[in-house]
Amino acid sequence: MIRIAVLVSGNGSNLQALLDAQKNGGLNGAEIALVISSRRDAYALERARQAGIETQEVVRKELAADLFDIAICGALSRCNIDLVVLAGFLQVLGPGVLGRYADRILNVHPSLLPSFGGRGLYGIKVHEAALQAGVKVSGATVHLVNEVVDGGPILLQKAVDVLPGDTAESLQQRVMREAEWVLLPQAVAMLAKELAQQKTAAGA
Ligand code: GRF
Repeated sequence: MIRIAVLVSGNGSNLQALLDAQKNGGLNGAEIALVISSRRDAYALERARQAGIETQEVVRKELAADLFDIAICGALSRCNIDLVVLAGFLQVLGPGVLGRYADRILNVHPSLLPSFGGRGLYGIKVHEAALQAGVKVSGATVHLVNEVVDGGPILLQKAVDVLPGDTAESLQQRVMREAEWVLLPQAVAMLAKELAQQKTAAGA
């Protein structure tokens, strides 16, 4: 059974999409075993608790610089995690986690990368930048995570129309509803299946 950890920082709507997909058998048998939040007040933690999933809070400002990465690694290792999903996670992972879980970390970004991605472009800021640029189409991307912020190999993308009169908030809601919440479960299911096949081949 592929074990998933979901890393969150906020509302957890993407986590909820994964929880719903798991309930409906949409994750190819993979199991969400742990939710790690970088904020103690993230509603995503409540969503995890309601689903009976173990949670852990790892707050960067409460830890010495390198201890954040070590704490994340420790939690993932303790729970025998195979696949890591960043779902609205607002911290940058360090070399410890990136090295140990290379090619096994997914992130959902609320634009069609490489447009409107990179340091400083997250959450509502992404949609503000898209509207500022006057694009007629936006969307979401799921990619593998590496040392380049929003720079890893792209796995899935889905386009969403920008409508006349859109605000950053209305665009964000449409991108989440029509793209993020669709793509992330699909990408997790794809990668979980691949990892399960690798485990079988390795006789794990
Ligand atoms: C959203 O802006 C989403 O586009 C991005 O992170 C933010 C919070 O998402 N991935 P969530 O509701 O916490 O999943």
